[in-house]
Amino acid sequence: LPKSSCAKEINIGRQAKLDIVKKLGLRGPLIQGPMSGGPASPELVAAVSNAGALGSIGGAYQTPQELIISIEKVKALTNSPFAVNLFISSKSPLPTAEKLTSALVSTRPFRHLLGLPEPLITPPYEINFDDQFEVILKNKPTVFSFTFGIPTREVLKSCQKHDILSIGTATCVEEALQLEEAGVSAIVAQGSEAGGHQGTFDESHSGHFIKLKDLTQMLNLKIKIPLIAAGGIMNGTDISDVLSLGASAAQLGTAFLICPESGTNSAYRAAFNSRTMLKTKLTRAFSGRWARGIENQFMREIDRRAETILPYPAQNVLTRDIRKKSAELGKAEFLSLWAGEGLASIRTMPAGELVKTLLNEFQIAELKRKNV
Ligand SMILES: Cc1cc2nc3c(=O)[nH]c(=O)nc-3n(C[C@H](O)[C@H](O)[C@H](O)COP(=O)(O)O)c2cc1C
Repeated sequence: LPKSSCAKEINIGRQAKLDIVKKLGLRGPLIQGPMSGGPASPELVAAVSNAGALGSIGGAYQTPQELIISIEKVKALTNSPFAVNLFISSKSPLPTAEKLTSALVSTRPFRHLLGLPEPLITPPYEINFDDQFEVILKNKPTVFSFTFGIPTREVLKSCQKHDILSIGTATCVEEALQLEEAGVSAIVAQGSEAGGHQGTFDESHSGHFIKLKDLTQMLNLKIKIPLIAAGGIMNGTDISDVLSLGASAAQLGTAFLICPESGTNSAYRAAFNSRTMLKTKLTRAFSGRWARGIENQFMREIDRRAETILPYPAQNVLTRDIRKKSAELGKAEFLSLWAGEGLASIRTMPAGELVKTLLNEFQIAELKRKNV
């Protein structure tokens, strides 16, 4: 990220805003991004929070019972604030029988290679959001963050009532304006460099991707509540750069993927050391939603037959057996390997040490910026 020449003006404009880092009592402007599907294990979340950044549980794919267990585990390991993240329920209609058959046919060769039977795909395709949110209300984490939409007025009101900060995700100005209007406490500005799913919920914006620097600058002009920059941030200089563009904090996902505490499975971890898996790509192949991951055979083959991809969340359910079996067999070519564009700068370090390193690098970068 290039340095901004107008950092001073931007920072003056920020002073009236909620100081989210201070409010959370963090040692620096750093959030470990929620990562559902395993990587953001309770051990990772707690280690990050214990080191003075904000750890985030990725609870989207967890049943209420599983979510309770995750929260209890984190609470047993840290007294520091942490976030719990959920997906807002999808509004897409159920796929027709014809579409379902064509998606099954398209993915059949992978099942054949993995020795899997044809799955029975029946709705509901998502865990009920209200049931998950009930767990959040009972446990009152410091932060409730979310992606893929805006929760109801009642949900946001209960957050305010119980002093839970609410953080939504935007990938364009329109979404950020809607989130601000709805009354969220802060917004994650998610650039297209980010690993994992794009949080896009404004249909007219689907498939349009904005780089983090441009998005942060645009939102800084339009949005009054704090911005948290996410996407491709891998070191303390990157954090300093996004703050100079108007963000109040940075959210990093990929940087934490291969910490020993993370729940990233071994085939996924190994992909970061592979000599053949080098580049990331945005794909709809695994879930039906645009998401960035390390390019592999499944992505290439299914993206070529894009017309057979079901909308999220049906495609996500359809490919679940393939991803699960591939993880068990260590077959990274058929697995969703979510990672951001900064993957080449990934470091293997215990999470607490990584937080310390990132915050030290950030301090040095800030001093350099101020020419001290
Ligand atoms: C494996 C993985 C899973 C993710 N799951 C979620 C999620 O459940 N909810 C969410 O809001 N963001 C999710 N994200 C996005 C991250 O929280 C974060 O914003 C993103 O990783 C930042 O970009 P970076 O990976 O380039 O650092 C995920 C990212 C990854 C890599």
